[in-house]
Amino acid sequence: MIKQITAQDIRAKKRRKQKIVMLTAYDYSMAKIVDAAGVDAILVGDSLANVMLGLASTNDVTTDQMIYHSKAVARAVEHALVIGDMPFDAYQKRPQDAVKNAKRFIKEGGCQAVKIEWFEGCIAVAKKIIASGIPVMGHVGLTPQTAAALGGFKVQGKDAQSAKKIITQAVAFQKCGCFAIVLECIPDRIAGEITKTLKVPTIGIGAGVHCDGQVLVIHDILGLFDRFRPKFVKTYANVRAVMQKAIAAYAQDVRAKKFPTRKQSFTIKPEEFSKLKD
Ligand code: KIV
Repeated sequence: MIKQITAQDIRAKKRRKQKIVMLTAYDYSMAKIVDAAGVDAILVGDSLANVMLGLASTNDVTTDQMIYHSKAVARAVEHALVIGDMPFDAYQKRPQDAVKNAKRFIKEGGCQAVKIEWFEGCIAVAKKIIASGIPVMGHVGLTPQTAAALGGFKVQGKDAQSAKKIITQAVAFQKCGCFAIVLECIPDRIAGEITKTLKVPTIGIGAGVHCDGQVLVIHDILGLFDRFRPKFVKTYANVRAVMQKAIAAYAQDVRAKKFPTRKQSFTIKPEEFSKLKD
């Protein structure tokens, strides 16, 4: 039987100096592929608002939608740790609902952990979720749910004062019991400082080479999403082009009456067919 990775296993990887591989997934088929490829953790990211639902902001995705997608992912995954990304709706809108919603991610969504982004009341929220027995991953630096207050989607911590603030936030997340911290869009040397300071692993996205692990959005590494492409993305395959070519070939076959053929058809015995006229 396959042993599913736990939040504790993710922590242990830092002690063993093993890099942590994390990737997003939002549906059953994709999650099956990601899991089979051997990643350590799958994040059902609120980025699904953009790449799956075509919404302008991650803040527009609801808790119900996130749980719906988490369920599909959890159904597929045997090996990786499944982390549900709490959307703005689940804990920043009404922090008093955070524990109830985190429990929904575990019980209904089938996740083993949740992720929350830094905001003013996040430590109180993280402490309560952890006290309820749910492992929490923190997220600092560029936090998309509060990006407007950070001056938009841009690199954070570029001056000493703001860098110190991010370091303090990461330390606070560790102190309240988070098992790992995502560092998004910060200078590589600041990520290096945080990684050196913390006992829990750092997972970078646009945070350079010094982090304990990396995360990216699956649509970005597969070249499936073309609305925007951050500098920190590396595209490993142009799956969009492969898909488009296959779909165009199918359309051409249908129009040219080359599909379906007898090979893809079902038959009925002639004597049965002739009875139609009886
Ligand atoms: O929603 C998301 O995809 C994230 C990133 C850290 C990948 O939060």
